[in-house]
Amino acid sequence: MTPAISCEQVQVGYGDLQVLRGVSFDIPVGQGVVLLGANGCGKSTLLRSLNGLEKLQSGRIRIHGDSLHDASRRDLRRIRCSMGYVFQQFNLVPQLSAFQNVLLGAMGRQRFGLLSCLGLTASAEERERAMDCLDRVGMADRALHRPSALSGGQQQRVAIARMLMQAPRVVIADEPVASLDPKAEREVLDLLWRIVREEGLSMLCTLHQLDLARDYADRIIGMKAGRIEIDAPVAEADRDRLDALYIGMARVDAQHDGEAA
Ligand SMILES: Nc1ncnc2c1ncn2[C@@H]1O[C@H](COP(=O)(O)OP(=O)(O)O)[C@@H](O)[C@H]1O
Ligand SMILES: [Mg+2]
Repeated sequence: MTPAISCEQVQVGYGDLQVLRGVSFDIPVGQGVVLLGANGCGKSTLLRSLNGLEKLQSGRIRIHGDSLHDASRRDLRRIRCSMGYVFQQFNLVPQLSAFQNVLLGAMGRQRFGLLSCLGLTASAEERERAMDCLDRVGMADRALHRPSALSGGQQQRVAIARMLMQAPRVVIADEPVASLDPKAEREVLDLLWRIVREEGLSMLCTLHQLDLARDYADRIIGMKAGRIEIDAPVAEADRDRLDALYIGMARVDAQHDGEAA
């Protein structure tokens, strides 16, 4: 079966800094993978590369078999629509309610999206679906709240509802719980993983805690200084090797003057 995500010898750099140094892996449909690695090892650059925003120096990325690099603009748009992103900082629009933020998830699918997101032209069906999405993340009773009136965990739930509204096939989550307290962290990961399973989605998710990675992942990919060091089913991911990801020259700019990533 065609993998959901396929990376073949991907290399990405910025000026003199070589960030991704030949990254290869396939993620089968339905698998939830956690990407681990020290700050500055290239995780976010890899995740950004997956929707065609980063220019590859070499290598190839395919999403459900479609190569990002030979795609027409129209195909690229379709591929991007099939990918849902969840970020550390939630990226909700502060002026909009939770409900309107979720409606935004339908934007990629139609023209005049901005108007419809404000609830002016959204169809009854879209509104109903947006409420369903909020309901699935346990936020229906907060539909009219703005992000500032919600806790971090609640905001991330809304962001997950927006992602669900988009109806993606692949989910890319970059440190989705890094801004949350330990209780909210587990609640959000429980929710995210439940939705990924229920919808039969494929996911690549960065986390920075080994214990969380072990509790949620099907498989762990460990990166160090722009290369994959570990790629194993969670039960076979050796603790010492995982710890070693964080020791020594882990950042891609280790030889440069290090700046926090
Ligand atoms: N747009 C960019 N321009 C220049 N350097 C960048 C850019 N994006 C990331 N980097 C550098 O690439 C390295 C890896 O960053 P990143 O992918 O964010 O790592 P991680 O997510 O693992 O912390 C860092 O040294 C960072 O400063
Ligand atoms: Mg990062």
